[in-house]
Amino acid sequence: MAPRVPRLVAGPSGRQMFGSLSQIRGDTTGFLADVHREFGDVAQFPVPIPAISLNNPADVDYVLRTNAKNYTKNTVQYGSLKLVTGDGLLTSDGAIWRAHRRALQPAFHRTMQSLTLDAIRDSYDHFAEVWRSEGAIEISEAMQHLTLEVVGRSLFGTSLSGNADAIAQATLKALKVVVARARTPFALPSVVPTPNNLRLRSAINTLDDAVAELLGAPSAHPDAFITLLREAHEADPVRFNLNAVRDEIVTFIVAGHETVASALTWTLQLLNEHSPAYGLVQEEARSGVDVTELEAIPLARAAFAEALRLYPPAWLITRESIHTDEIGDLAIPEGTLIIMSPYLLHRGDNWDNAEGFDLNRFADDNSQVARADYLPFGLGSRMCIGRDMALVEGPVLLASLLRDFDVVPTNNWSDVGMTHSVTLHPTRRMEAKLLPAR
Ligand code: HEM
Repeated sequence: MAPRVPRLVAGPSGRQMFGSLSQIRGDTTGFLADVHREFGDVAQFPVPIPAISLNNPADVDYVLRTNAKNYTKNTVQYGSLKLVTGDGLLTSDGAIWRAHRRALQPAFHRTMQSLTLDAIRDSYDHFAEVWRSEGAIEISEAMQHLTLEVVGRSLFGTSLSGNADAIAQATLKALKVVVARARTPFALPSVVPTPNNLRLRSAINTLDDAVAELLGAPSAHPDAFITLLREAHEADPVRFNLNAVRDEIVTFIVAGHETVASALTWTLQLLNEHSPAYGLVQEEARSGVDVTELEAIPLARAAFAEALRLYPPAWLITRESIHTDEIGDLAIPEGTLIIMSPYLLHRGDNWDNAEGFDLNRFADDNSQVARADYLPFGLGSRMCIGRDMALVEGPVLLASLLRDFDVVPTNNWSDVGMTHSVTLHPTRRMEAKLLPAR
């Protein structure tokens, strides 16, 4: 018989969980919010392992920063993502993660300094041309293609345009299966040919083909991330064997574009709902400033930061405790699953008008400060390596778009719904005409 899981703290009963299954699947953040309303900031779930959710910034800070070494990513969330990203930075732990982060941080920084801004500008110019001729877009798709192009040009020194659509579709397909697996208590091993596993395999094959093509391509810019990965492989072919290189490339493709695309999509949705704010951000973008200079576009930055608050793409962060610990007064057994949601923390009591969109909230640019009640990029040593890139890319792309086009919705953007995938997506399509600015 499985050992009984100790009751650490109050939380929903098995019957309550069973009754909420469809809400847990379709509206996970709504379910978590209900749990916190009923049981407080710490609640336990009736599952076969100790599992608690934390919704208090001090506790979250403790887990992600103060005692981070006691908490790993050995969780269902990251375990299923690992099927796609392997031992890449996002999903590895311990010595492998530490060695890779130490090696990749300076490489990524070099790429950032040398290539990213040009990559953002060139990618935008490429798509602006396409949009001018097509005249209409679906926002999520367009933002995904655009941000994938930025990843391709900055990290891999090449345009992914040729197979951008295939990579974007494969990423989405793989992530959809990953989410389905994470939500299924008894997912069959990935080698069993279930329809989901077959979909996953074909998506991973597409990503692997793209990686092989990238690795086989004539040498990219000396500062491109892929050149630096190749160098790391040549210098230490054991630690950075070809599998490790593959895992990092897939990780950076997956983590580096979906997130920014999601944030940009929500920024446009929110601005559309708040037309005075839209007007101000557009006016700033059209005032003749250089929109690639961050100092010149504080309102675009503020809008992007506020969208990251209301719709943090990484809406769920999980960890597992290695040893017993204490979080506040709560004794934590080893192997406890800890669930934290930036989505809820960003809408907590620490914030005035927490549910409202406010362009002034980040006007002083405190979006750069990571804290446990504003952690779109995580916190502590596992914080997002691409944060600085995203905080340039998002506002610059937004300002460029609003400088050149009037974005005119052609369907209803007010009630788009919210799908809880690996990132948060609008459930319904957001269609728009792009009219050249007069
Ligand atoms: C708005 C855009 C982005 C958001 C909201 C975001 C969010 C996050 C979050 C929350 C984490 C930490 C997860 C955890 O602690 O469990 C993370 C890690 C990571 N992100 Fe991002 N990210 C963004 C953009 C990017 C970009 C542009 C890249 C790369 C080009 C990137 C690559 C990574 C990687 C490699 C990690 C793992 C870092 C490590 O553990 O060492 N992300 N991201």
